[in-house]
Amino acid sequence: MLRRGECGEVLKVFLVSRNEGKIREFRELGVRECVDVVPVSVDKVEIQSDDLTQIALYSAAQASLHLRNELFFVEDAGLYIKPLKGFPGPFSSYVYRTIGVSGVLKLLSGFSERSAYFESVIVLHQPTQGFRVFRGFVTGTISLEARGSGGFGFDPIFIPEGHEKTFAEMDLETKNSLSHRGKAFRAMVDWLRTAYKSRAREI
Ligand code: IMP
Repeated sequence: MLRRGECGEVLKVFLVSRNEGKIREFRELGVRECVDVVPVSVDKVEIQSDDLTQIALYSAAQASLHLRNELFFVEDAGLYIKPLKGFPGPFSSYVYRTIGVSGVLKLLSGFSERSAYFESVIVLHQPTQGFRVFRGFVTGTISLEARGSGGFGFDPIFIPEGHEKTFAEMDLETKNSLSHRGKAFRAMVDWLRTAYKSRAREI
């Protein structure tokens, strides 16, 4: 739905997620881009796969059974640690719930090479037009100890390249300007704006 407001036109898009950290970040990103991100919770199972895109596509397909006529997106994200050969990657959520931040730091003890990246995969559902995938990455390193209280998940141990603070030591706006999630979201919004403009021209 397009609504008139301070932004001119505000695009409304549903976000299928129960993750409070993600919801907070996407809502702030939306405010910046004149997009009203509306969280919605849908019952679905998450498949295990070593491919984030497959996980996100499956999740979007399940959500579309409930939200057939809506513009919505789902996101799946993971932390890939180079000296651990990409672990935990698509298993990040499970690893966070089990061994957690301290467990990952233990796995890395003694390693001087600590490079890592986050990947975000967004799958957008457009009624009658199916699914479209957008990706974002941020490279960085794993800190020697957990620092900061902001953000969620592995934020206290991830230092984005070119910075000294961990994501958890940054404010929401700064993390969003650098993060995998911010990049994937902006790619989706750019695409939506172009798609909506060209459709408006056709009418
Ligand atoms: P999922 O995308 O909900 O499957 O979550 C993947 C897991 O990766 C989360 O539970 C977090 O532990 C971690 N993760 C994903 N994105 C971030 C982030 O931006 N910061 C910190 N941890 C993240």
